[in-house]
Amino acid sequence: MVKNMKKSLNHIYDNLINMTAVSENILNDFNPMTFSFESSIDSIVGQTLLRGENMEDKPEMVMLRIIDKVGGYDWYQYEFISGILEKNSIPLDFIIHIPDNFSARTFYFNNIPKEPLLNDFKENFDKFGYPVRNMVCYLSNSFCLFSMNYSRDVTEYDSAVINNLVMQSLFLKSLSAQIKEVEFAFNYTIYALARAAEANDEDTGNHIVRVGNYCEVLAKRIGMPDSFQWTIKIQVQMHDVGKIHTHPDILRKPGKLTPEEFNEMKKHTSCGARILGEHDRLNMAKNIALTHHERWDGSGYPNGLKGEQIPIEGRILTIADQYDALRNKRVYKPAFDHNTTHRIITEGDGRTMPCHFDPQVLNAYKDISSQFEEIYEKMKG
Ligand code: C2E
Ligand code: SIN
Ligand code: SIN
Ligand code: FE
Repeated sequence: MVKNMKKSLNHIYDNLINMTAVSENILNDFNPMTFSFESSIDSIVGQTLLRGENMEDKPEMVMLRIIDKVGGYDWYQYEFISGILEKNSIPLDFIIHIPDNFSARTFYFNNIPKEPLLNDFKENFDKFGYPVRNMVCYLSNSFCLFSMNYSRDVTEYDSAVINNLVMQSLFLKSLSAQIKEVEFAFNYTIYALARAAEANDEDTGNHIVRVGNYCEVLAKRIGMPDSFQWTIKIQVQMHDVGKIHTHPDILRKPGKLTPEEFNEMKKHTSCGARILGEHDRLNMAKNIALTHHERWDGSGYPNGLKGEQIPIEGRILTIADQYDALRNKRVYKPAFDHNTTHRIITEGDGRTMPCHFDPQVLNAYKDISSQFEEIYEKMKG
């Protein structure tokens, strides 16, 4: 008796250690933008319920029922096949609706369930060739997890384990949704501010959105991490926010700018950086605003930076911005087609020269210039 208790306490202790390790992994890998509730359940099932060599404490079957988009149910069975967790769709076409007001929670039973809903499930499992001896499960309207046929009686403890696993995933799901919402609002605010700054500009249409897309593909091509690609795509939209202070007569002047006017124009870079200020989350936007008219050979503005003194985000935008400016009609220039634009960027036309660009970014542009054309065509106007 005492020996048994000790064994079972050891076992609980092992499980607790394991669950903590699993939680730690999940937290370390947690990315609110890509989090998937279902994948989180998958990895938890693999790492806790079905883990280990010891058959004695493991369920024979673990099944998942997920509500689909049209209110039907998809069934899956988890199994380890040569050491790899597999999740296979299974054809259980019995329908048991769990009422909306049912309070989601875990249950367990040996032999006969008390909960009538569980009895329905048990009877159907039996009928479809999955006879149930005992079961621990989590039941909710949209999601059910069944862990069945342990080679011993199941207890409240097994129920607590499942509850803990599901709660953890639900918690992360809710956290991820909240973070995404804030992130979306943040991105939208950036977009709105960028649009506001364009109010006096010539009609630039989707310029800022296209430029975000070119920068994303360029960044990917030169091997920048995903997080950089996402950040530049959004933050680059504010590169010209400083134009909010440029006089509309200059922005809308149909002809060539006088040197004084151009000097005034150049201020949109430092002015944009000042508007964006010192917040960490807008650091890239600020760098971009300040340096997107710098040139690799040092002939740009506002500070005449050279080579790698110019942050990579600025070097990326320079090409993206010029590609788009060339493709569009401006008050001071006609629109050019892709081939003409490509020639100006890669061979130069006197005003623009290849030595203005970071050779690495220019090569990346050459490799993927067809993607620039696609982005322009898809989002023009
Ligand atoms: P933007 O029109 O958006 O042009 C952005 C950048 O694209 C320019 O930076 C330039 O590097 C490149 N670009 C634009 N059009 C041409 C072109 O016809 N040929 C070549 N080779 N490159 C071109 P930049 O020169 O520093 O100009 C910054 C901004 O100053 C322009 O933004 C525009 O708002 C204004 N701007 C520049 N030149 C003129 C002009 O002659 N007249 C007027 N009204 N505005 C100008
Ligand atoms: C789900 O997010 O798919 C289900 C969560 C729940 O209601 O238990
Ligand atoms: C500028 O107005 O400074 C150039 C336009 C652009 O960067 O898109
Ligand atoms: Fe600019």
